[in-house]
Amino acid sequence: MCKDSGDFQVPLLENIRSNEPSIHQPSHSRREPFFRISLFFFIHLIYFTLLSYIAVLGTLYIRQPLCTSVSVPLSSATSEHAKLLQMPLEFEERSAWLPLQAPWDQEPSPTLDQAWADLMFGLNVRVTADEVESLGFNTTDRLRVNGGDYFGVVGVYHQIHCLNSIRMMLYWDYYKIRFANSTDSELFTLGHTAHCIDTLRQWLMCHGGVEIHLANWVDTPAERELDGATSTTCLKWDSLAAWTRPRTLVPGTYTYRQP
Ligand SMILES: *[C@@H]1O[C@H](CO)[C@@H](O)[C@H](O)[C@H]1NC(C)=O
Ligand SMILES: *[C@@H]1O[C@H](CO)[C@@H](O)[C@H](O)[C@H]1NC(C)=O
Repeated sequence: MCKDSGDFQVPLLENIRSNEPSIHQPSHSRREPFFRISLFFFIHLIYFTLLSYIAVLGTLYIRQPLCTSVSVPLSSATSEHAKLLQMPLEFEERSAWLPLQAPWDQEPSPTLDQAWADLMFGLNVRVTADEVESLGFNTTDRLRVNGGDYFGVVGVYHQIHCLNSIRMMLYWDYYKIRFANSTDSELFTLGHTAHCIDTLRQWLMCHGGVEIHLANWVDTPAERELDGATSTTCLKWDSLAAWTRPRTLVPGTYTYRQP
């Protein structure tokens, strides 16, 4: 939304609206249960894969012996950024993915929307001019908010934003009403979704996990099931959120304009 002065208040990346009351019951899917389970499994798998391999970000900066050291390219730009921006990243060894748990195991609902909104709270953040300079960016045409800080997005937040966009497209019967008046009409286009899918493909191939998973036979119901329990080095999400949270550009509290 533009103001007279030419200042924008629209978030750089749109987050889910979490404060609106529920105005629509979740539509019951006509899909077969097996497909739904596969879909949840697929989303969950991507989600935990994303969280797991963000560990590459800052393995060098572990301050406590939380995990065994793993080999990370020293030239990694993300590790450099984490160090220069003093992100208090912590890591842990845990299962690559866990079984579906509440609230992630439910169909779209206000509770699930709130969980995504909480996860994505730090999507758009302030990065100071000094920090941008220390990172060596070319600052031509970069968006700055009032006060002079730059608009920034931490990589994994963009990836989760993309995952969430795809998720909402899958449940469009539920979300189309909530986003009927969205200022960001581009978010749910096929073009944006294709961008998101390809961004995730490239990022997963860039940071892809190479741990081995074995398959178990489960008797009831009789099927084979990939075991997510293989241990891997994972970012502790809250340690990253501790950096993004105080820098979050909360909609309505800042403006920006065309550079
Ligand atoms: C910075 O970016 C602008 C716009 O992309 C470009 O024209 C300029 O040459 C860049 N400057 C340097 C030093 O790379
Ligand atoms: C969208 O705008 C219309 C017209 O102003 C309004 O009636 C409707 O409640 C709005 N929907 C949402 C989800 O905000």
